[in-house]
Amino acid sequence: MALRPILVAPDPRLKRVSSSVPKVDDEIRALIDDLFETMYAAPGVGLAAPQVGVHKRLLVMDIAEKDGDSKPFVMINPAILERSESEAVYEEGCLSVPGYYADVARPDKVRVRYLDRDGAEQEIAAEGFLATCLQHEMDHLDGVLFVDRISALKRNMILRKLAKARKLAAAE
Ligand code: NI
Repeated sequence: MALRPILVAPDPRLKRVSSSVPKVDDEIRALIDDLFETMYAAPGVGLAAPQVGVHKRLLVMDIAEKDGDSKPFVMINPAILERSESEAVYEEGCLSVPGYYADVARPDKVRVRYLDRDGAEQEIAAEGFLATCLQHEMDHLDGVLFVDRISALKRNMILRKLAKARKLAAAE
């Protein structure tokens, strides 16, 4: 297992659309292990493969509360089968948008089909925070960040500050 560097917005690689995983093999399982290690070390509750520069439709999540049981999830080629018309608003953050948070409205229930780490087809009906996290991570596979779902004014402010912080860090 290895920690992978996490790309930070406005890196153009975060805007690319990822391709489906044709076969769940040992190489994919090694990537999954790296994603979990990188996510827990960050720490974060979710990480999608494109966030470490691997453009495959694969994500990991663990939204266990601090003292709760760990509930690790791996989703390969996830697809939304159904989404509710009703929406819920949660404050979102992202390891690729460090230090910034914003309220985002999304469908509050979704049904998702995906492959697990053995390549077996699974389905999950998610609601509440889990549904939001799932949609947030799935957005990464299409090159969409949570800041793309907020006002342009706020998005541009955040992206400008991140770009400036990167220039300062590079100049040091
Ligand atoms: Ni994210």
